[in-house]
Amino acid sequence: MSSKIILITGSTDGIGLATAKKLTSLGHKVIVHGRNTEKLNKVATELDLESVQADFSNLCEVQSMADFILEKYDKIDVLINNAGVFKVSNPRTTDGYDVRYVVNTFAPYLLTKKLLPILKKGRVINLSSAAQASVDFEAMRGNIVMDDFEAYAQSKLAITMWSRYVANTMGSNGPVFIAVNPASLLGTKMVKEGFNTAGNDINIGVNILTSLSLDDQHLKHSGEYYDNDNQRYSVPQADGLDDEKAKRIVELMDDII
Ligand SMILES: NC(=O)c1ccc[n+]([C@@H]2O[C@H](COP(=O)([O-])OP(=O)(O)OC[C@H]3O[C@@H](n4cnc5c(N)ncnc54)[C@H](OP(=O)(O)O)[C@@H]3O)[C@@H](O)[C@H]2O)c1
Repeated sequence: MSSKIILITGSTDGIGLATAKKLTSLGHKVIVHGRNTEKLNKVATELDLESVQADFSNLCEVQSMADFILEKYDKIDVLINNAGVFKVSNPRTTDGYDVRYVVNTFAPYLLTKKLLPILKKGRVINLSSAAQASVDFEAMRGNIVMDDFEAYAQSKLAITMWSRYVANTMGSNGPVFIAVNPASLLGTKMVKEGFNTAGNDINIGVNILTSLSLDDQHLKHSGEYYDNDNQRYSVPQADGLDDEKAKRIVELMDDII
């Protein structure tokens, strides 16, 4: 297999970091990303990898990150939109949106949209979750205060829905898009802090992200949702297959960004 260029967002910790290590060990060129400069530099130095910094709660930083990547690369084979947040001390961004929507849904959409010219026939792997709840447009606009789980679950169904919508809209003119639940309660910082449990082996998540990035069997599944709790392609929850609602989600994101 030829070496691929793979950008993994949120690769300073958890599943993203472990996947960066795995894909590097398989001979691929990984670009790591993080919000915390010190943490990012440590990972980049240890693994001898190129890095890019951006806080995804600020969409201007996502735009600058995309510009940086576009300047340096004329091709990205795989974009893994992995960065995510669940529990936060302050749920509001300075622009008044819920940080889960901004980091988990809007930022990966903006980054993907900007990088489409160099993603060509590549793959976009979008981190979803088994936690999925119907998108409330007022909550998406930042007009409703939600608890952590509701905000997270809405943001994860929203990324699953835009993934399918963009895949279907672009068809063979765009990359392959797959949304994935990497498996529930994998033992990362997010799970330890959010659920007070040690969690399961994170390699369960690493292995599916590696397979989705490299294996040809997934190429025919663009727009679909892979549920690694059941180890198969599946249907999202709630109104995840509602094309009209997915279109409205994308239109609202275009407005916001
Ligand atoms: N663990 C699970 O069981 C599970 C289940 C379903 C889905 N997921 C999804 O899998 C993905 C990885 O999660 P994880 O469990 O590995 O969590 P994690 O260990 O907390 O890692 C999350 C990564 O995202 C980064 N990140 C958080 N907020 C950011 C921001 N504002 N800007 C830029 N980067 C930011 C973190 O940076 P720092 O290192 O600076 O914190 C870290 O690198 C997430 O999208 C999560 O929702 C996880």
